[in-house]
Amino acid sequence: MSKKRKIKHILVTGGCGFIGSNFIHYLFEKSDFRGTVVNVDKLTYAGNPENLHDIALRYGNKRYFYKKTDISDHTSMQGIFEKYPIDTVIHFAAESHVDRSIFGPSDFIQSNILGTFTLLEVVRKAWAGKKHVLFHHISTDEVYGSLGDTGHFQETTAYNPRSPYSASKAASDHLVKAYFHTYSLPITLSNCSNNYGPCQFPEKLIPLLTLNAWKGKPLPIYGDGQNIRDWLYVEDHCSAIWTIIHQGQSGETYNIGGDCEMTNLQVVEKICETLETLYPLKTNLHVKLLKSKIQNYKDLITFVADRPGHDRRYAIDFKKIRTELKWEPRVNFDSGLEKTIQWYLKNEEWINNIISGEYRNWIEKNYRTR
Ligand code: NAD
Ligand code: TYD
Repeated sequence: MSKKRKIKHILVTGGCGFIGSNFIHYLFEKSDFRGTVVNVDKLTYAGNPENLHDIALRYGNKRYFYKKTDISDHTSMQGIFEKYPIDTVIHFAAESHVDRSIFGPSDFIQSNILGTFTLLEVVRKAWAGKKHVLFHHISTDEVYGSLGDTGHFQETTAYNPRSPYSASKAASDHLVKAYFHTYSLPITLSNCSNNYGPCQFPEKLIPLLTLNAWKGKPLPIYGDGQNIRDWLYVEDHCSAIWTIIHQGQSGETYNIGGDCEMTNLQVVEKICETLETLYPLKTNLHVKLLKSKIQNYKDLITFVADRPGHDRRYAIDFKKIRTELKWEPRVNFDSGLEKTIQWYLKNEEWINNIISGEYRNWIEKNYRTR
């Protein structure tokens, strides 16, 4: 294992989103990091500074700095590098939902490809001649395409993206690698499987179906429900990134996975069972109010039309990070799901705000002066 990099000033892009905000919490609360974090986020529908309200209160303008900026804005991003002595970039900012990319790919091309390109140009110039710097790019296992019943994605698997989302992420991965080879920009990449945990926008499978079940609404499962994803608790993703930015080799890609392949139907059944244990249907006032006849949360499962081009199976081989960097996922699916469901059901205000767009008023009130 190589010597640990020293990290003092981190730029996080997309830090108000699901994984980015969990990562910033991880930095301040679960790691030995003592430096500063600059969070740049454009605040799309998925970006919510409320996710970091506690961090802003505690560390704001001392060790935590937030700027509302689009990564595609060259001048503004250049200004960030002039103002702060950034030594490490962790690039999360992206449009991230496959379904949205099918209905409207244009924002995905703009943010994921052109945004990454702009950021790389700014970083390349700002870091010219600098040593001990690193650009870490966050990517997905979806760039590798769809698997049959057997096999796993390795770092060497050829890219075969099949949705506008995964194609845009693949393009950004290639750009990052090209900047390493062409301009010697120090980079690392990670391709991770499906994350779940607190603060995920309730359009993705686990939060959406948890909230639907809680409210007694139908649980839509695309196609036959036999599509397989590998699931990783978000804090494990954060610890993997933390490991890579300290010990990863420049120019290298690391796959990150949870060793947790499940069909979508299995995931949804698990959500129903966990809900039943934590909040039995008999005591659920939402369901009572609907005068619903259901006997079990699972009765809400509804098979709906399949997603166009729906990838059948993702499975990740993460031997490389496990053996070279000694990283392991720590949270098993049952306990991660229980923590996640409990978080959603205790944070009804967060959910109502994010769904209604009400949090935008909150942003106006709290962040106008920043
Ligand atoms: P998210 O949609 O919850 O958050 C994305 C954040 O990026 C939001 O805060 C949004 O406002 C911001 N953003 C988007 N475009 C921007 C732009 N042009 N300029 C500045 N900010 C912008 O997404 P997430 O699930 O947290 O995913 C974060 C990253 O991790 C993405 O790159 C995604 O591809 C990757 N990833 C996600 C998963 C997953 O399961 N969610 C798995 C593997 C990889
Ligand atoms: P999603 O959370 O959108 O992540 P991704 O498409 O990036 O893997 O979806 C996870 C799986 O769940 C995917 O196979 C699509 C499926 N799915 C449903 O069956 N119903 C739903 O309502 C959603 C949002 C997803």
